[in-house]
Amino acid sequence: MTFEPGQGVVRLTVNGAAREAPWRDGETLLDVLRGPCGITSPKRGCAPQGQCGACVALVDGAPHATCTIPAGSAEGLTVVTVEGLPASEREHFSSAFAATHGLQCGFCIPGVVLRAHHLLEQEPEPTRAQVAAALGEHLCRCTGWVKLIDAILAVGKARRGHPVPELPATGGMGARIARYRTHELALGERPFVDDLSRPGMLFGAVTLSAHARARVIRVDTTRARAIPGVVAVATARDVPGERWNGLIHADWPAFVAEGEEVRYVGDVLAAVAAESEVVARQAAALVEVEYELLTPVLSVEDSLAPDAPRVNPRHENLLSHSVIRRGDCATALASSAHQVSGTWQTQRIEHLFLEPECAFVVPLEDGRLHLYTQGQGVFDDRHQVARLLGIEEERVFVELVPNGGAFGGKEDLSVQAHAALLAWITQRPVKLALSRHESIRMHPKRHPVRIELAAACDTEGRLTAVHARFSGDSGAYASVGMKVLERAAGHACGPYRVPNVDVEAVAAYTNNPPCGAMRGFGVPQAAFALEGALDLLAAKCGLDRWEIRWRNAIDEGDEITTGQRLMKSVGIKATLAAVREPWQALMRDGRHAGIACGLKNSGLGNGVVEWGKARLVVEADGTVSVYNGYTEMGQGLLTVLVQFSVEVTGLPASVFRPKVDATFALGCGQTTGSRGTLFAGRAVTSAARKLRVDLDAGHTLAALVGNVYAADEVVDDTTSLASGVAHPKTHTSYGFATQVVVLDAAGRVERVIAAHDVGRVVNPGLCEGQIEGAVHMGLGYALTEELPCVDGMPITFSLYQLGALRAKDMPEVEVILVEAPEPEGPFGAKGLGEIGLVPTAAAVASALESFDGVRRMRLPMKDSPAARATSVGKIRTKAPRESWR
Ligand code: FES
Ligand code: FES
Repeated sequence: MTFEPGQGVVRLTVNGAAREAPWRDGETLLDVLRGPCGITSPKRGCAPQGQCGACVALVDGAPHATCTIPAGSAEGLTVVTVEGLPASEREHFSSAFAATHGLQCGFCIPGVVLRAHHLLEQEPEPTRAQVAAALGEHLCRCTGWVKLIDAILAVGKARRGHPVPELPATGGMGARIARYRTHELALGERPFVDDLSRPGMLFGAVTLSAHARARVIRVDTTRARAIPGVVAVATARDVPGERWNGLIHADWPAFVAEGEEVRYVGDVLAAVAAESEVVARQAAALVEVEYELLTPVLSVEDSLAPDAPRVNPRHENLLSHSVIRRGDCATALASSAHQVSGTWQTQRIEHLFLEPECAFVVPLEDGRLHLYTQGQGVFDDRHQVARLLGIEEERVFVELVPNGGAFGGKEDLSVQAHAALLAWITQRPVKLALSRHESIRMHPKRHPVRIELAAACDTEGRLTAVHARFSGDSGAYASVGMKVLERAAGHACGPYRVPNVDVEAVAAYTNNPPCGAMRGFGVPQAAFALEGALDLLAAKCGLDRWEIRWRNAIDEGDEITTGQRLMKSVGIKATLAAVREPWQALMRDGRHAGIACGLKNSGLGNGVVEWGKARLVVEADGTVSVYNGYTEMGQGLLTVLVQFSVEVTGLPASVFRPKVDATFALGCGQTTGSRGTLFAGRAVTSAARKLRVDLDAGHTLAALVGNVYAADEVVDDTTSLASGVAHPKTHTSYGFATQVVVLDAAGRVERVIAAHDVGRVVNPGLCEGQIEGAVHMGLGYALTEELPCVDGMPITFSLYQLGALRAKDMPEVEVILVEAPEPEGPFGAKGLGEIGLVPTAAAVASALESFDGVRRMRLPMKDSPAARATSVGKIRTKAPRESWR
């Protein structure tokens, strides 16, 4: 798009009030609203693409993406944000989103509310399909649209005089209480990091590498420093402490220095602090970098070739090699009644969390820095920032601002270090937010993995052997890539009994964007291959696809891939049983349907010492602060911690205030591996029991003010894959799932039945929402999502082209919650954040084969009728109104 050159003052009406706001070249109406007007409910999700809807406001009465309207063209416009809706309408929306669990992270919701308000004004009684169609320009990455649309339909009913159903105000285990702070999230009142500000605040911007591999000859900041409004420009030379960081290997420099190589297109060469964001970005673009171009390493094969150049100076190109062997796989494969083999290929995809990375750092009077972060492990962020600055950790007070989605993509440090360095240098508050383009370039992705897999079974369809070779492109930095491939290997046999196993997995450095954690963590890749092989074996045996899974599904006492013998909470057969009748009905009716199963670890395991830490503090205002070390990112962690507290103490939910900051040293590592509920829940439950003792002794909360109830739960009984132990305890716990995907007569996905073992249900609304959202992500993974790169650079940054499914693409989802209580979890609960998409792509492939006879072994399955029926690739950005050009 083109912006009008210049700057000036724009006069417009915002929420009924006349406003005059300054603007400068490059700013949009969204910047005017969020800056001079101080209205932060419209969010920056993809600006200036106009493809996510997070910034939507009513402009001259109609919903529009404000990021597409140049500020200088906003003269005379009438703008309404959620703050300007009538009080009754605001109440309807906030109540409906609470009652239906219609939001998760909440980042997308204010824009959705305005779109829905406009729809309901035009069509008071819309159908579900009409609501979905109206949301075509919006993206929600969390909810899977199901409950979000429920919320809008509930508002429609409320406007027609029906009461919005109310949820119980409090409740412990199993209670369907509302998500913590839903009302504020629905109305855009709960700030995200980019919504924070301070007087005198500076804005940061970064200069990224133009190339995937090159030697940096010179970084010249002269022109950038000369721009009026620029306060500081930092490069590698300005880092006082340790420049290299990383969650497992310290192989990732916050800045690449002169004389070093850049290793991918998200490497940072300079960071600018300026009086405005526009100036900061202009200056960052004027940092001149002289490169000596080098040939990038772009595939696992090239990376592992004997003469390959070293991608990362801190590690050889082979990042990891995981091996699992049990029994005599070769003999079993050769001697079994039926064998199948093939090569499955999965793709790199982008997390597409709706809130791009942003960090805000405020120097405090006592010499400390206050770091507001959205990271998935705020104490890891603190540690790495302190190292970079060369100061003690105690001098960085870190505070989590619950984020607008993460899905694994916010585990590694992103811009926290750069914002902190700029604040340290300038001694002024600095906020540094990435654009969507920069976000896509910078953070690690889901691994593309090639899987060569052979499997065999006897005449009865009982698996005898699995032989698998995984190779994953981990990109320029380790992140947690070695663990992702280790996890893929450890889940190679799925939830099935396989006596002979031969599995190897390698992760390799390349000059592609790094790959690391993403929901499922290597397991969806493994499931896509194994479940495909199981379908092929079923056909060879003449068995129904449900039946072959039932015959092989593990029971208590059976071994999984790693040799771990599961003695408890094995719910796979319960999930299979839950779909048995609908599956049989579908088969009887000759429907085209597919089925797949999955298991997914809770907890990092593999010998890593893990922690759940909690402090309950009785406050003078009658509340109890619930401190923990894990991150709320839409999954509902803070809500379930409140529910555990209620369950134990008997106090109402309104008493508890969950918090994550450095008041106490509660570093537990990353919120990853579906372990928040498991470990934070254990710690909070344990701390709450101590409070309960005092309450039972007759003390009131008022008498207990100032008391701190502490619990540090260590989990140190898992075993490394490399230990050689016959039956290692590789993980604390596992979730299980079976999903059935049903196609319509045209081959479109019509319905998904998702049966999941969650241990014990803490809150059914949250459980369903996690699964619906994961199924949405899994369907996109199966059919339409990918992030192809050429010479290490993504070929598109367009949200439409990245392929996430829109509301009208989402089929009906029927969630069935199954409980196989986990004795090591709080009240029997275990994690379910990731498993929701583990079987999905495989179940879609299974359904498609039943439809057209084609066994698809490469993701995404874009050639399929199911993919072609989606709106992906068909949505076009609206042409700007004539007056806005
Ligand atoms: S931020 Fe404007 S549509 Fe995404
Ligand atoms: S709730 Fe919609 S993006 Fe998170």
